[in-house]
Parts: sequence; structure tokens; C-alpha cells
Amino acid sequence: MTHVETNQHPKKRLIDPYNRTISYLRLSVTDRCNLRCTYCMAEKMQFLPRQKLLTLEEIRDFGKAFVTLGINKIRLTGGEPLVRRGIIGLVDSLASEEGLDELTMTTNGLLLEKKAKDLKLAGLGRLNISVDSLIPEKFRQLTRFGDIKDWHKGVNAAKEAQFSNIKLNVVVLKGFNDLEICDLAEYAIANEFDISFIEEMPLGVTKSHDRVQTQVCCGDIKQQLSQKFELIETLERTGGPSRYMRVAGTKSKIGFISPISENFCGACNRVRVTADGRLLLCLGNENSIDLKSIIRNHPGDENMLNEAIRGAIQNKPERHYFDPSRTDILRFMNTTGG
Ligand code: 5AD
Ligand code: SF4
Repeated sequence: MTHVETNQHPKKRLIDPYNRTISYLRLSVTDRCNLRCTYCMAEKMQFLPRQKLLTLEEIRDFGKAFVTLGINKIRLTGGEPLVRRGIIGLVDSLASEEGLDELTMTTNGLLLEKKAKDLKLAGLGRLNISVDSLIPEKFRQLTRFGDIKDWHKGVNAAKEAQFSNIKLNVVVLKGFNDLEICDLAEYAIANEFDISFIEEMPLGVTKSHDRVQTQVCCGDIKQQLSQKFELIETLERTGGPSRYMRVAGTKSKIGFISPISENFCGACNRVRVTADGRLLLCLGNENSIDLKSIIRNHPGDENMLNEAIRGAIQNKPERHYFDPSRTDILRFMNTTGG
């Protein structure tokens, strides 16, 4: 076979000081949400004033800049991304970006009834749908006012829109939903979804519960599941922090996200851009770089933006240190992007 020379440049890469390739951007499109999950938000939240939020064009420009620099996977997050007006157009403009292999979204699912079909048509690849309980009263309690019926309508719409590889995300809290772990897995298996169980992180001050009391480690979750299901080790990854096990005889994988009990930072490939345009290099660190000021003060200066991003990656911390008894990080998940 003859070797065909191409004059294409090798794909650019972002590499941090610990030799990790940064290929995954979580892009928050809003800090607002139609729910108030107790572990994620305070009951009365102060949201960002509108002029501080990135415009849709700015979000798109950031997405494109990161792809130029070597990012190949973008997850749109919030808050709840589907409350942002114009979200379908944003998906549409990012999905066709050359070099972007995957565009995904994390959503609480409630607005999928209205939007799943258009998201699919606009080119969204995959959906992660959060759900912490399927019991109506528990769902309401955890989300403060959500109706599980709306969640089910959303999930059905996503299935009808032919989204495949849907993954459910469950944050496990002792005394709230830890006895529902097997039922949630059963539901995922029956629907051929994957499901990830997540340890709660101490982000933002919660008044509804004491995080030391509610902490459940992934080891215990796995233990519960293995009494009911045959779990098979697998090295499959989806580019995020989940470590997976296959459920024998089913199409589903179960993921475990263990920010507290088992640090996964060694393989971190991610950075985040907040809804107000700050580049966060690590969930467990307050440091951020204000990218919004750069594009507002120097519009069109792609070089300056690229250099700022490249420089910031050189300051990515090695790892996070979370302690559920202390809330060192005062920002809630909704301002960060999940
Ligand atoms: N700890 C762990 N997960 C959280 N999420 C929100 N806040 C926290 C927290 N403090 C999850 C949501 C959703 C994803 C975006 O992040 O449940 O699945
Ligand atoms: Fe909204 Fe998600 Fe936070 Fe719940 S966890 S309040 S759905 S952003």
C-alpha cells in the first residue's frame, strides 16, 4: 500500500503540567434552573444578573475556540440548560463544528417533553438525565417542587426522539434515596439506559441536610447493587469521571463517580466554562480565569483568547481535596456546570 502524504497539521492538543490531555469542555449556558435540588442549590438563590451571563454568541465563540485548541467533546450544562432561550440554535451552531466529535447535554429532563425532538434534529449526540428518586414524594422533596410526571414525560420524549445511550445521573444521599439504588438501576436496565451513581460533593452551603450524615461512598453503593445484579468489570469509559461495570445479561452499564472516596483526578481531561464566562480548571478549586472580559474588551481577537486559554491550562491543579465536613468551595454546582 502506498503511503499517502497529507499536508494537514496534526490536531492541536491542550496538555496540562501533569501531562494530561485536556479534550473535554463542560460549557454552562445558564445558572438558572426550574428545580432547586437540595444538594445543588439553596432554597432562595441569587442568580447572576443578565448582563453578567454570556450571550449565546459568546458561548458559541468559546465553544469554537476550545475546539480549535484541541477540545473534541463538549457537554452543555447549567443550571438547567433547557431553560436558556435559544438553546436549540446554540446546539445547532456547535454540532457541526469540525473537530468536535461529541456534543452532549446534562439536563434534569423536565423540559425534554418540549425540546427533545428539536435537540436531536439540531445535532445533539447524547443526553445525561438527572434523577435522584422515582418515588413522587421523594422526587418532590429532593427537588423542592418537581413533579416526577414531568420527568417521565421528558424521558419518553427523549426515547421517541431516538436518543440512544441515554444515561441517568443519581446523587446518592443517605436517608433520602440510598434505599432506592437497586430500584433506580432496575428502571435503567428496563429502559436500556446506563446509570451513574454520584457521591455528593461539598459545593455551596446546604441548610437542608448535613453532608457528613448523608455521605454514601461508591463502595457501599456497589455492594448494594452486587447483591441484586451480576456486575462485570469493564474498562469502558465515556470520557468523564465515571468508572463503569456492565450488568450481566442486560444492555446497561452502571457508573460510579467517587469524588470523595476515590480520587479520580489523575485521569482528568476536563475544564469548565461557567455561565458568566469564567474558565474553571477544577471543581475543587476556586481559581478561575475571566474569559468573558477578554472577549468583551477585545472582540474578535482570537489570538488573545487562545493564548489566555492555553496559559490557563498551565495552571490546572493536580487534584481536588474534598472534605464533606467543610464547605471550602462556596459556589454551588449550578454556577459551575455539572
Ligand atoms: N454533588 C454531586 N453532584 C451534584 N450535582 C449537583 N450538585 C452536586 C453536588 N453537590 C449533580 C446533579 C447533576 C449534575 C449536573 O451534577 O445532580 O446530575
Ligand atoms: Fe437544577 Fe440540576 Fe441543580 Fe437540580 S441539580 S437544582 S436540576 S441544576
